[in-house]
Amino acid sequence: MTDTMIGVIGGSGVYQIDGLEDARWRAVESPWGAPSDEILTGTLDGVRMAFLPRHGRGHPHSPTSVPYRANIDALKRLGVTDVISVSACGSFREEMAPGDFVVIDQFIDRTVQREKSFFGEGCVAHVSVAHPTCPRLGAACLTAAREAGVRVHEGGTYLAMEGPQFSSVAESRMYRAWGCDVIGMTNMPEAKLAREAELCYASVAMITDYDSWHEGHDTVDINDIVRTLTGNADKARDLVRRLPNLLGSERALCPHGCDRALEYALLTAPE
Ligand code: ADE
Repeated sequence: MTDTMIGVIGGSGVYQIDGLEDARWRAVESPWGAPSDEILTGTLDGVRMAFLPRHGRGHPHSPTSVPYRANIDALKRLGVTDVISVSACGSFREEMAPGDFVVIDQFIDRTVQREKSFFGEGCVAHVSVAHPTCPRLGAACLTAAREAGVRVHEGGTYLAMEGPQFSSVAESRMYRAWGCDVIGMTNMPEAKLAREAELCYASVAMITDYDSWHEGHDTVDINDIVRTLTGNADKARDLVRRLPNLLGSERALCPHGCDRALEYALLTAPE
């Protein structure tokens, strides 16, 4: 058994954890550069928590400039075992409406301008991301969302785009035809890096718009996104508030092997 430490990477609109005891902001250094911001640590219902604003307080980082490697590494150094991503997304499905949440279970990574791995020359590893999120952690997020009274969808494929511009109508239609459910700009390479760092990772995506495909709705714009996010921030914080009780302060090995992802992934021989 190890101690649980829940790391929350909050997107636009989610900038704190309610009820956190012994809360303090900590600067964490990483060989991969500076994380997006200091990390707020504390205890909630007896479980250690760490909160990192993905874009930094005041939103200095664009989706492309978020230091994803430093963020995941800094959380790992603090002792985080379970990472919950909270972020905004657009929807490709009529029934997945603005205001709903989705617990993501698959990704298509279309980002092109980001460092995507801790490994490379000198140390080569190929981890599996066939199942890029942790089902145990995803199930806890689903329960927490339901308890918080959120309309939540179980499972969904998230198209990660580079941005910062939103998609054209043609792109939006194409992603729909590919079978994607939602679109966002931040969950990749975050999820891949969490797997390389042997951290369990789950993603709660909050739907803010219908992207650009929906003829009955205006094409997405940032004011609508911020308005919907602000309306949902209380629910997102309520969801996070419920996670410590659901996950408990001690954890066994991950039944899905997220915490042992490198066991058969390293190719470079030890010196
Ligand atoms: N984040 C929120 N809505 C989005 C959209 N439609 N496309 C990309 N990222 C988003």
